[in-house]
Amino acid sequence: MSDHASPVDGARVLADLTALRCFGAYKTGVHKPTFSAPHLASLHWLAEKLPDAGLRATIDGIGNVFGTSAKPGLKLLAGSHLESQNYAGWLDGPLGVIYALEAARVINRDPGIPGAVEVASWCDEEGHFGSLLGSRSYIGDVSEAELDAARDRSNGRPMREALRDAGLEGRPRITAEPGRHIGYLEAHIEQGDTLESGGLAIGVVTSIVGIWQYRIAFVGEQNHAGTTRMAVRKDAGLALAKFCVAIDQRFPAISGPRTVWTTGRIRLEPGAPSIIPGEAEMLFQIRDDDPAVIERLEALLHGMADDASAQGPCRVVVERVRTGAPARMDPMFHRAIEAASAELAGGRSLRMPSGAGHDAQVLARIMPAGMLFVPSIGGVSHHWTEDTSDADIVTGARVFVEACRRLLAG
Ligand code: GLV
Ligand code: MN
Ligand code: MN
Repeated sequence: MSDHASPVDGARVLADLTALRCFGAYKTGVHKPTFSAPHLASLHWLAEKLPDAGLRATIDGIGNVFGTSAKPGLKLLAGSHLESQNYAGWLDGPLGVIYALEAARVINRDPGIPGAVEVASWCDEEGHFGSLLGSRSYIGDVSEAELDAARDRSNGRPMREALRDAGLEGRPRITAEPGRHIGYLEAHIEQGDTLESGGLAIGVVTSIVGIWQYRIAFVGEQNHAGTTRMAVRKDAGLALAKFCVAIDQRFPAISGPRTVWTTGRIRLEPGAPSIIPGEAEMLFQIRDDDPAVIERLEALLHGMADDASAQGPCRVVVERVRTGAPARMDPMFHRAIEAASAELAGGRSLRMPSGAGHDAQVLARIMPAGMLFVPSIGGVSHHWTEDTSDADIVTGARVFVEACRRLLAG
């Protein structure tokens, strides 16, 4: 379909994304951790933009930004997040927020389109202080005690202190109003290479993975690296390395076709070249959209730890530190995105699961939810080189807004 068939202003979408990219610019990406100055500037930038879309802006007590509409009729909630991983990409999060803003600008002032799009920017999707805190707060799943305990994983700063310095202390946290929304739609870059390698424009997300995280501790004996004979040492670092290799050898036999596992952080104590590590720790993550697969792998992990402890010389303890249930996206959203893609992207779409976590998986617990992906160049994300072509960004925006219109039209 030709350019002018969509009411979306592609140049405006690109300009907004570029404006957000300037806050916390790092190489070709951004460094915008939750509650950093560039993150807060992004939140205020959005709050100032929302009235252009006929929305009333509020930043709540956890840093979620909402744009709410007084237009009568059905309401669709749309959004994503504005903080980034450390020294990471410019589109992971902002893309979905700007698509939502554009949808609101197009739909909310058009009396010919029933209902309105309301915008949300969820705070801390990237988990600097916790796990999907902003969207979980909205569905009533974050206690005050969880906020009391939350610390910035990069520097230990208490979340309460960050909220106070951001001027958000004491503000109420906004929670979902039952029945207000027909559902939640989020756009995101794919962060993998399925769309690009298939020459496709749009991913229609069918499910979002569950993320299970473990702290695996290895207890050995700290001693002198020069005088302790190899036969008697209890090297916790070596035990950790062997355990990592064993995982890679044993997991494939019982994992699913898209299961992934990652050792994202390793710590050795005391971490000196002339000292045998007495303790070691790894943070280990498993992702799959089938809880049964994760349960199998978790049982194997415990079995392997027990065997390693029994064999010695080090003790291995597995502790689960995070669970996130997988979520199914609603078929009504699949149909709306596919119809919009047929109209505006030559039908170059594919149904696919999401290997990344997203706020949509939280919203799906209380309302129908859907997600749309656009291609990531080279499949790169969580890195400052993350990018998507302007043409794909604009096509994605057109399909997104048309999907919103179709969802509101019923
Ligand atoms: C979200 O950014 C994730 O790590 O899946
Ligand atoms: Mn994201
Ligand atoms: Mn991310």
